Amino acid sequence: MRLLAWLIFLANWGGARAEPDTKVYAALGNHDFHPKNQFPAGSNNIYNQIAELWKPWLSNESIALFKKGAFYCEKLPGPSGAGRIVVLNTNLYYTSNALTADMADPGQQFQWLEDVLTDASKAGDMVYIVGHVPPGFFEKTQNKAWFREGFNEKYLKVVRKHHRVIAGQFFGHHHTDSFRMLYDDAGVPISAMFITPGVTPWKTTLPGVVNGANNPAIRVFEYDRATLSLKDMVTYFMNLSQANAQGTPRWELEYQLTEAYGVPDASAHSMHTVLDRIAGDQSTLQRYYVYNSVSYSAGVCDEACSMQHVCAMRQVDIDAYTTCLYASGTTPVPQLPLLLMALLGLCTLVL
Ligand SMILES: *[C@@H]1O[C@H](CO)[C@@H](O)[C@H](O)[C@H]1NC(C)=O
Ligand SMILES: *[C@@H]1O[C@H](CO)[C@@H](O)[C@H](O)[C@H]1NC(C)=O
Ligand SMILES: [Zn+2]
Repeated sequence: MRLLAWLIFLANWGGARAEPDTKVYAALGNHDFHPKNQFPAGSNNIYNQIAELWKPWLSNESIALFKKGAFYCEKLPGPSGAGRIVVLNTNLYYTSNALTADMADPGQQFQWLEDVLTDASKAGDMVYIVGHVPPGFFEKTQNKAWFREGFNEKYLKVVRKHHRVIAGQFFGHHHTDSFRMLYDDAGVPISAMFITPGVTPWKTTLPGVVNGANNPAIRVFEYDRATLSLKDMVTYFMNLSQANAQGTPRWELEYQLTEAYGVPDASAHSMHTVLDRIAGDQSTLQRYYVYNSVSYSAGVCDEACSMQHVCAMRQVDIDAYTTCLYASGTTPVPQLPLLLMALLGLCTLVL
C-alpha cells in the first residue's frame, strides 16, 4: 500500500467543487458568516445550516460539535489509523470579532483542543491543525496581528505544550504565501505553520502595505500517511494578468518547496533552514518574496521589507515579535497616526 498521500489546501473556497467521493476537511473563514467576522461562541442558525451542508464529510460527533462552535476533529484515512485532523474556528480569536472580545475561552475551544491533543498523545496519534485566521503577525506590514493578545498567548501555550503530537499547522487568511516557526526555550524548531496563499486574489488596502496583491494559488502537500510527516509542498498558480490578457485561465506549477529551497522535506527542521536562508541570503529572500505574492510582484525586498517578513516568520509571540523589529533597527509604524488615519477613513465613509 502506498504510504504517501496528498493533502490539498484551498485557502478561500470560492466556487471550487470537489469530486463526490473526495473527503474535504473545511474550515470557516472570517467572511463565511453574516455579519462578517462576528462568529458567535455558541450555537446559531448558520453553524447549524453549514453542519447540514458538510454532513457527508463529518462524523456524528463532529456534526454535533460543529453546531456548537464550528470546530471539529476527524480521523484521517490511512493504514495506521493514527492520524487526526483538527479543524479550528479561529474566527473566535479575531480582533474584528466583537462577540468574543471579553471571553477567556470562546466556545471552550482551547479546552477542547487541549483535550484532543492530550488524548492523541496517549493514543500515540499525530495531528494536523487547520484554521483560517492565523496567530502571529501579517508579514507585509508592521504590528498587524489578527488574534487578540490573550488568545494569541493561549494558542501558543497549547501548541508548545503538545508540539510532539502536532505534525503540521495550516492557516490561510493572508492570501499571501508564507510560514511561521515555533521554537522551544532552547531555540530548537518544534513546529511550522504554513500560510496557504488564496485562490481569491486580494489587493489589500491595509496601512503600510505597498501593492499588496496576489495571484490565485492552490497548494498540495505530500505526506506520510503513517507518521503524518510532511514530505513536500507544491504550489500551483494562475497568472491573472496573463489570464485577463488572453481570456483563458492557465494553472501551472509555481514551485516545489524541496527544489526551490534545497531542503529534504517540509519538516519544522527544514523550514527553519529555509528561514535561515531567507534571512541570510539576498537571492533566497528575493525568491521567497516573489512567491509571497504568488508571483504577482517582481519588486525588490529591501532591508525594511526583509525585517518585516523575517520577524513575522520567526516570532509568533507578540513581545518577541516587537523585540525582533526593534532589535533589527526597523522603526515600528507609529500607532497614533495609524489610528487617526483609520478614524479619518471612517469619517469619510460616514460623510
Ligand atoms: C449518525 O446519526 C444518524 C442520525 O441521527 C444515525 O442514523 C446514524 O446511525 C449515526 N451514525 C453513527 C455511525 O452512529
Ligand atoms: C504573467 O503574465 C504577464 C503578462 O503576460 C507577464 O508579463 C509576467 O511575466 C507573467 N508572470 C509570471 C510569473 O509568469
Ligand atoms: Zn480571511
